Amino acid sequence: MATTTARPAARPTIRQSRLMINNEWVDASDGGTFDTLNPATGDVLAKVAHATAKDVDAAVRTARKALETGVWSRMDAADRGRLMFKLADRIEQHATELAALESVNSGKTIRDSRGDVEGVVNTLRYYAGWADKIEGKTVPVRGNFLSYTLRQPVGVVGQIIPWNFPLLMLAWKWGPALACGNTIVMKTAEQTPLSAMRVAELAVEVGIPPGVINLLAGLGETTGQAMVVHPGIDKIAFTGHVDTARLIQKNAAPTLKRMTFELGGKSPNVVFGDADLDNAVEGAFHAIYFHCGQCCTAGSRLFVERKVHKEFVQRLAAEAKKRRIGDPMDEDTEQGPQVSQEQLDKILGYVASGQKQGAKLIVGGQRVGERGFFVSPTIFDDVRDDMEIAQDEIFGPVVGVLPFDSMDEVVERANSTYYGLAAGVWTQDVNKAHTFAKRVKAGTVWVNCYHVVDTTTPFGGFKLSGQGRENGEAALDHYTETKTVTVKLG
Ligand code: NAI
Ligand code: MG
Repeated sequence: MATTTARPAARPTIRQSRLMINNEWVDASDGGTFDTLNPATGDVLAKVAHATAKDVDAAVRTARKALETGVWSRMDAADRGRLMFKLADRIEQHATELAALESVNSGKTIRDSRGDVEGVVNTLRYYAGWADKIEGKTVPVRGNFLSYTLRQPVGVVGQIIPWNFPLLMLAWKWGPALACGNTIVMKTAEQTPLSAMRVAELAVEVGIPPGVINLLAGLGETTGQAMVVHPGIDKIAFTGHVDTARLIQKNAAPTLKRMTFELGGKSPNVVFGDADLDNAVEGAFHAIYFHCGQCCTAGSRLFVERKVHKEFVQRLAAEAKKRRIGDPMDEDTEQGPQVSQEQLDKILGYVASGQKQGAKLIVGGQRVGERGFFVSPTIFDDVRDDMEIAQDEIFGPVVGVLPFDSMDEVVERANSTYYGLAAGVWTQDVNKAHTFAKRVKAGTVWVNCYHVVDTTTPFGGFKLSGQGRENGEAALDHYTETKTVTVKLG
């Protein structure tokens, strides 16, 4: 594999590693901490406060108080929007620092981190614009009555986010929650708590009132679990693994919280023989290897029409061999490390499984270097639908190539998964493009492109890929309760 020698971006200072409750930075109630690492080296970056159930309770109380006093929800909606615009501006001013922090803690390349920070700013601005445009309806009813609806905040929302897009997931969850007047208790992923802490500091600086945003760090089975069972939390918004979502749903049942889930996938990316192959190769490459395959929408099942299949695999493999792997802080690096030893082991386990079940390893499949958690871009050919590598979310740079012959066949096979987050199709025939888009079971379909996600368009999954939608106007439904008011006239 090629490695880079470019000059690295400046290392960030780690200013904050505690919990933010009521706009104050505090240690965990029992003084506990956990280590957060630099995945490029495996070195400890910081000891981070590990929120206990007592800390969760304190955060929920302050969020509840902020909700009930109306300091946020009853503020003029336009002023709420203005504060969100201010937060977006402040984040934009700190983009360089935030991107560096994101890369050091998550392993994301510095270029990708810059893109993510831009996405954060766009998302907060988009939802800032919504704050004073969330309207109810007047509804015609039988009899001499006036009925109308009010859209009010759900309440205190618990938000549990993953490590693959730490800042972007924060923005996707804060944006609609804040615009609709909710108050927040967020838990970051244990692998990547640092960038969110810096953003929370900026939120205090721009004047978000105390209690509106509370930021916790900690493990899922402790801090996350305490949030899920807490009766003072009205809703959980979660992004992560489907098995975690199942556990959350079960543990939240006694309090019947509202739930939204975004749960990854095993997305089919379908290349028809008539596609512009240069674009399709580049697109299929990006679809799987973007952010080391640690992407919920990763195009991990690559269906290629049989007549171009051999050539396509060769060209993809040639690209994979050129991939520049290295320090995510180097400007020229195209692929950084996986986030953790756990993910590295999981990926190598699937490589072994693919080989054992008879798929053909074309390139990659190995750890790169001895420090950090790097894996080479991996291609399996002659993959069958029933193999583990074709069914499970690997969340690494591993693509399985599956040849196909017809539209009906590929639609059926694309849909033969319990996931349904995203899909791609490459063709120059509009008929094929729209037929596939209509028939595939996925929340997002890309035609002759991949991973194009905008804050304005609804995002989420069919089937086990999730419940509800984030982004766009759609997210507002999940952060408001609808109230009907009926008035007797005359
Ligand atoms: P995870 O689902 O365990 O973690 C995601 C978040 O949930 C983290 O903040 C974690 O602390 C929290 N969490 C974990 N257990 C919890 C519990 N019992 N109650 C409340 N919160 C809990 O995912 P993990 O272990 O980091 O990664 C495992 C796999 O999950 C990955 O290999 C990948 O397949 C998938 N994943 C999918 C993501 C997506 O974007 N849809 C993001 C991250 C992981
Ligand atoms: Mg887990």
